[in-house]
Order: sequence, then C-alpha cells, then structure tokens
Amino acid sequence: MKLILLGPPGSGKGTLAEKLETKFHLTSISAGEVLREEVNKKTTLGKVIKKYIDRGHLVPDEFITQLILLEIKDKKNYILDGFPRTVEQAKAIAGLHLHTVIYLEIPLTAVVERLAGRMVCGKGTHNYHIIYLPPKKSGICDKDGSKLVQRKDDTPTIVKERFRVYTQKTAPVIKYYQQKGILKTVDASAAPKTVFAEALKILKR
Ligand code: AP5
Ligand code: MG
Repeated sequence: MKLILLGPPGSGKGTLAEKLETKFHLTSISAGEVLREEVNKKTTLGKVIKKYIDRGHLVPDEFITQLILLEIKDKKNYILDGFPRTVEQAKAIAGLHLHTVIYLEIPLTAVVERLAGRMVCGKGTHNYHIIYLPPKKSGICDKDGSKLVQRKDDTPTIVKERFRVYTQKTAPVIKYYQQKGILKTVDASAAPKTVFAEALKILKR
C-alpha cells in the first residue's frame, strides 16, 4: 500500500504516519526528515537545503524529488509524509499506484499553537506536544530515550511563512488529487486518536 499524507505545517502528518506505520507495517518517509538528515551530514547539498528550511521556504523540486525517489526505489509499501508538496512533485510520481492521499485539514490558528508546543526527539523521528501529547518523562523521548528539543523552524514568524508557502504552492496539490479521485479529507483539528480512527475508517473501506 502506498499512502500520501498531505496537510499544512503542524497538521499532524508525522504523528499520524507513526501510528499508521505500526498498524499497517509500512515504512514512513518524511520529506522534512530526509532533508534534515542531509543538512546534518553537512554535505554541499545539505548546506543549500538548510537555507531554504531555515526561511520556511520549499526546497527546489528537483532536489527533494531525487532524494524521495532514492528512498522509495526498492519499496512497495510506504507512507509519504510531506511529499509531494507542489504539483510538479506530484507529476514526478504520477506513475506510482497510490492507494489514498489523506488530506489533514486544519486552520492556521490551531497550527501555530501546536508547533509552539512541539518537541521532537534527538533523532527528529518522534513528535510530542507539551500539552496534547506529552512524553511519559518530561523532556525525554518515550521511544528512544533521547533528549527532546524544539525544531528551529517552529518559531511563530517562520511558521507563518511555512503556512503562506503551503497556501501558495501545496494547496493546489489537493485539487490535483481530488481530480484523480483518491483524496480523502480528515478533520485534523480533532484529538490524535480521533484523527487516527478516521484515517483507519478510510483505509479499511
Ligand atoms: P516538514 O518537516 O515536513 O514540516 P511541515 O510540513 O511544516 O510539517 P511538520 O513536520 O511541522 O508538521 P506535521 O504535519 O508533521 O505535524 P506533527 O505530527 O509534527 O518540512 C520542513 C521543511 O522541509 C519545509 O518547510 C521545507 O522547507 C522542507 N520540505 C519538506 N518537504 C518538502 C517538499 N516536498 N518539497 C520542498 N521542500 C520540502 O504535529 C505537530 C505538533 O502537534 C506536535 O507537537 C504533535 O504532538 C501535535 N499534534 C499532532 N496531532 C495532533 C492532534 N490531533 N491534536 C493535538 N496535537 C497534535
Ligand atoms: Mg512532520
């Protein structure tokens, strides 16, 4: 099964991907994480990518598309979290037989509060929220024991910019998949377990 999670910054793509990954034994691939790994390697490409991420802008289509195609090369079942994010990126994977595109719909006001309280583990893989999804032990990842940190692009100014870019460049992808008849919308402002339950209903239909 090949799934896509589409939605604005902080809509809960990573949180839902983690749950679906366990439930359906899929590999979850987060475009943001793939890019941050490249940044951490401090490669020439990584240094270029960092400039885009830090400003809240999208990395050029050709960079991210190449990285994602490499990630999915030998895989049959996966969740793409945050890719595609432009119609060009969507066209680049038009040959894949996608099962469903889950669109996590949420207003900006809800997203700012979520991202202000988000904490991620040292590896950047597991997401928490100081109020909505707290770890069992304050400041420590339940899954890998690493220290929780805040993402640099989670400041209110950069979050607003990420949302602006989303509206301009990613919102058209919703229409693209609607026209293909594989887009399903979930109310992402609900509690995490409700969002998961709604996604399960869609996938089991
Ligand atoms: P990326 O890392 O993908 O960031 P994003 O899309 O802005 O999304 P987030 O990871 O911030 O949010 P999320 O939807 O995963 O929400 P989460 O589950 O964490 O991308 C970062 C950057 O990389 C981009 O800005 C761009 O520069 C670049 N990039 C990435 N993909 C690209 C592409 N395809 N093309 C070009 N450039 C690209 O949840 C957020 C918080 O809310 C957490 O604290 C969580 O615990 C909490 N939460 C989750 N669900 C709920 C709920 N239901 N109720 C209450 N709280 C909840
Ligand atoms: Mg994420």
